Amino acid sequence: MSSISSKEIQIERAKTTKIDQVDFNNIDFGRIFTDHMFVCDFKDGKWQTPKIMPYQPMTIDPSARVFHYGQAVFEGMKAYKDEAGKVWLFRPEENHARINKSAARLAIPEFPKDYFFNGLHTLLNLDKDWVKPGMGNSLYIRPFVIATEPAISASPASEYRFMIICSPAKAYYSGKVRVLFAEKFSRSADGGVGFAKAAGNYAAQFHPTNLAKEQGYQQVVWTDANTHEYLEEAGTMNVFFRVNDTLITAPTNDRILDGITRKSIIQLAKDNHIDVEVRRVSVKEIKDAARNGSLKEIFGAGTAAVISPISTFEHAEEVFELPNVEDSFASIFKEKLLNIQHNLSEDLHNWRQEVK
Ligand SMILES: Cc1ncc(COP(=O)(O)O)c(C=O)c1O
Repeated sequence: MSSISSKEIQIERAKTTKIDQVDFNNIDFGRIFTDHMFVCDFKDGKWQTPKIMPYQPMTIDPSARVFHYGQAVFEGMKAYKDEAGKVWLFRPEENHARINKSAARLAIPEFPKDYFFNGLHTLLNLDKDWVKPGMGNSLYIRPFVIATEPAISASPASEYRFMIICSPAKAYYSGKVRVLFAEKFSRSADGGVGFAKAAGNYAAQFHPTNLAKEQGYQQVVWTDANTHEYLEEAGTMNVFFRVNDTLITAPTNDRILDGITRKSIIQLAKDNHIDVEVRRVSVKEIKDAARNGSLKEIFGAGTAAVISPISTFEHAEEVFELPNVEDSFASIFKEKLLNIQHNLSEDLHNWRQEVK
């Protein structure tokens, strides 16, 4: 693979900043973007010189394959600012590895590691004022790749664009989430693309999730496509179940996204001597546990909300309310993760990476 240093990135600085127009206390997630964006095109069989330029609309040919065949993958990660003003990333190597795993599944060329990290660090240095300190505040980072080649034959493109855009995110408490366990629709199937952050995986969830919303549920917890008997993950979160004092989560496979928050929670549970079982979890087992009172908590885990406690679930027209537990695992893990991310606690596993 080719290599690049930060000095070789072409930088066009924004003439003015938009930051003064932003009310950082009232941020609607994902609608405001920082002053700059990172762009790197793939053509003639290689990634070209990367550029950082003012955030702006771009022109893409209507026949670009991304619009017709959905050849697009993305990542979601965050930068945090500590009290001394240093900016940190959380396990970014995992995001780089995962976007390339997603890309490979969609026949998109992999993006070299030094392009990714030099681009990301240079971009974050330019836009570091957009990363606000304070617990839970962060800058959401969205790397993505799209097929730009103008040609509508159904085959992989020969031209792509890799980009990184950034959006300030406010610490938010989304409240407890009500979920529906899927009985009919599926998010992914064996041998499919469920493990990839492929754009189409998300589009395919919108309709069933809208139907769930009409019934008063914010999210669907997907079950396996073959039997709908085993619980897999939610729309943008992996899911954990606490039965008595044991934490249970489904194993990752080709249907489930290998979440970075998920694997961090599994490690933190082990560090804190909490029993954790990574195994198939059946709908029946969770309904039985809810009935006999051993089901204490369900929560979702993902970069955007960190941890989302679930208050209610419905399956086969039966509604189950979860109890309010003191010292919930959800709040314990949320605090531990946020403390590591914001450089407020020891980083035993070297998960933090400073942006320099
Ligand atoms: C389908 C899906 N599952 C799980 C997650 C959680 O992954 P992570 O913790 O890496 O953000 C995400 C979000 O990235 C997701 O889109």
